[in-house]
Amino acid sequence: MSNKVEKPWGGRFSEPTDAFVEAFTASVTFDKRLYAHDIKGSIAHATMLAKVGVLTAAERDAIVDGLRAIEAEIEAGEFAWSIAREDVHMNIEARLIERIGDVGKKLHTGRSRNDQVATDIRLYLRDELAEILWELERLQAALVDLAEREADTIMPGFTHLQTAQPVTFGHHLLAWFEMLKRDNGRLRDCAARLNVMPLGAAALAGTSYPIDRHYTAELLGFDGVCENSLDAVSDRDFAIEFVADASLLMMHLSRFSEELVIWASAQFDFIELGDSFCTGSSIMPQKKNPDVPELIRGKTGRVNGHLVALLTLMKGQPLAYNKDNQEDKEPLFDTVDTLRASLRVFADMIPAITPKRDNMRAAARSGFSTATDLADYLVRKGVPFRDAHEVVGKAVALGVKENLDLADMSLAQLRQFSEQIGEDVFEVLTLDGSVAARDHIGGTAPAQVRAACDRARAWLQAH
Ligand code: ARG
Repeated sequence: MSNKVEKPWGGRFSEPTDAFVEAFTASVTFDKRLYAHDIKGSIAHATMLAKVGVLTAAERDAIVDGLRAIEAEIEAGEFAWSIAREDVHMNIEARLIERIGDVGKKLHTGRSRNDQVATDIRLYLRDELAEILWELERLQAALVDLAEREADTIMPGFTHLQTAQPVTFGHHLLAWFEMLKRDNGRLRDCAARLNVMPLGAAALAGTSYPIDRHYTAELLGFDGVCENSLDAVSDRDFAIEFVADASLLMMHLSRFSEELVIWASAQFDFIELGDSFCTGSSIMPQKKNPDVPELIRGKTGRVNGHLVALLTLMKGQPLAYNKDNQEDKEPLFDTVDTLRASLRVFADMIPAITPKRDNMRAAARSGFSTATDLADYLVRKGVPFRDAHEVVGKAVALGVKENLDLADMSLAQLRQFSEQIGEDVFEVLTLDGSVAARDHIGGTAPAQVRAACDRARAWLQAH
């Protein structure tokens, strides 16, 4: 009977925990994934205790060997996780005592599960952030490669999802690179801020043992220690900050996904997504559905939800640790899993996109996308911009009526709207002339796209 198991805190209790309460309050079903970080933290703690003379070298060695053996048991799938032992910390500690006897009971000297769990989560997230950044940079690199290949490809640029001006596909792709560059910076900021160590705060007030927190921090690769014990055990800002960064990143992936879905539709037909990233329909044989981008768009919702969950979790908590904090883990873990998987599949999907260049160009030709270029041309001939705007508006109206693009009109047709229009107008009415003219940093000209790709690669190298 699990609720008859003796609790490490059982001293002041005369009745066993209600069986349902035991399961209700346990976190081991989900926090066991912190085992490696928990063991790492315990080894550093025991090493520090020996250094300051609280443990003998022999006691330290017995504890460290025992913890390593337990880690091997867990990794071999041989560890019997127990709900009665509540969480990952007490499962491992109880097993240590089983394995090495009474000396195992000394490990918890000068610490509490409160500073222990806060340390574990930071160690865990630090490792996950490194993996996430790796996937993110793989995606960024894939975007730069595709952008460079498509530096000359012309597509319509949109505002209000209406054809606005021609842009190069490479330029459009690099807009996504810029968003991800900011996400990358935010995640790095988060990683730097979280890398301080709560251990030593103990339950809330610190400990009366002569601990050396800086030594433990050094062993664990922390940049420093949390400077207030109450804050150390209660702070979950780093988790919220990470999930906020993840929400922004997922929002970007979601917008990108939305564009991929639109572009892959029969109506746009700008790209072909790789077969391995799509699925078919069980009833409509012609279908090739963009499941991967759709799912990423969908998964963004749950990450946003986790952000609200964590903010709400913290908003009512008085100092210092409260059991509420146990609820931080599932939203955090699910955010890590969702983000990592989404980045991974996105990075794989980008090189499998085949642009349909002719369709993009035809779409750019058909929506009067060079109307602004005609207005700018008139301005260069001395027409005030507002008048030029009016002239071009009339030319577009004729085009709509006659089903003609501006570049398809004859010089005579164009000149009925302004005598300033000459033979050289056709240079600016071409799509290639239009994009090539936007030749400044941040502009869509193919030369600028190539320069931006070089800068993007240098940025990736430096990070
Ligand atoms: N399982 C707990 C958590 O996840 C560990 C800390 C528990 N501390 C306590 N005093 N009950 O937050």
